[in-house]
Amino acid sequence: MKRKLLGALLSVAMVASLMVGCGAKEETAAPAETTEAPAEKTEAPAETAGEGSKLVGVSMPTQDLQRWNQDGSNMKAELEAAGYEVDLQYASNDIATQVSQIENMISGGCEIIVIASIDGDALGTVLAQAKEAGIQIIAYDRLIMNSDAVSYYATFDNYLVGTTQGQYIVDTLDLDNAAGPFNIEFVTGDPGDNNVNFFFGGAIDVLQPYIDAGKLVTPSGQTAKDDVATVNWATDAAQARFENILSSYYADGTQLHAVLASNDSTALGVANALASTYSGEYPILTGQDCDIASVKNIVNGKQSMSIFKDTRTLASKVVEMVDALMQGKEAPVNDTETYDNGTGVIPSYLCEPVFADINNYKELLIESGYYTEADLQ
Ligand code: BGC
Repeated sequence: MKRKLLGALLSVAMVASLMVGCGAKEETAAPAETTEAPAEKTEAPAETAGEGSKLVGVSMPTQDLQRWNQDGSNMKAELEAAGYEVDLQYASNDIATQVSQIENMISGGCEIIVIASIDGDALGTVLAQAKEAGIQIIAYDRLIMNSDAVSYYATFDNYLVGTTQGQYIVDTLDLDNAAGPFNIEFVTGDPGDNNVNFFFGGAIDVLQPYIDAGKLVTPSGQTAKDDVATVNWATDAAQARFENILSSYYADGTQLHAVLASNDSTALGVANALASTYSGEYPILTGQDCDIASVKNIVNGKQSMSIFKDTRTLASKVVEMVDALMQGKEAPVNDTETYDNGTGVIPSYLCEPVFADINNYKELLIESGYYTEADLQ
């Protein structure tokens, strides 16, 4: 986007220097190309919604998890820097609250609403109203299902998240060479979150050959998606389920070798359960998001890895999408096959996730400016 902006500013400067006296005209022409200040000069304020308003709604699921706070504040900052007004709301993981916040965004004059849904299946009615009002919807991180009001989807490559977690377990246990069997347990996220199908599905696709070969076994027998789900991705729920597993299947000294946890909030629940209910050798434990608590656990040996999804990158991509749509253009996408929400494939932009562990976290998280050393103390 910076390159685009620079190019636009340069062309404005060149034209301005050639056409002295036409400054005013150039100033009003510029907003069509640029994303920055000119939008403020020429556009009516947000209160006059409906008449060229530049109000963007951002609906986030909860403030309980670190990542959504970062996603929300990154997006607000970037959208404001690009000249938009932003109505940012968090819904406390409560579907009715999210619906009413979106209703307010519709009546408040938002032209585009960016939504990270709590339950991907619960927004059909309110989004039909948005569509009726001519408002475009961008699904953020989580796909919104069964609604034809969704124009675009911006996320990370969720399948790659799952395969990366699975491959980490394969490599760390050296499953291609070691005979095993190794004991593994599974913890994934909210059943209403479409991402779970990709996270868990991706990991199982990698692990299945080793399960079939008897190298990986699950003493609890809990392997079906419904059995390993965690409502609302809640740390407490993951911890309670895992304490149960540990006291029922591992209290006799059986060693647990690996836990596939789909994200950091559930990995934290597993780590808490291991601390309270397990005395054997510490297992491999995966995660996702690089939440501060989990990075600290990586540093002190209580979590093996996490997936780093740089929310700054995702926020920038969404700002590019908003910009394009505001100008009546098509938004940038790099995937038009993977994400069918039940009404057809939603054009998507997938950012690339990478894994972080004890060996690379400093470079990935501190040198990139995502965290400071002090954040991790
Ligand atoms: C996100 C993860 C997050 C989880 C829990 C998922 O949809 O992709 O990054 O950890 O929700 O909030």
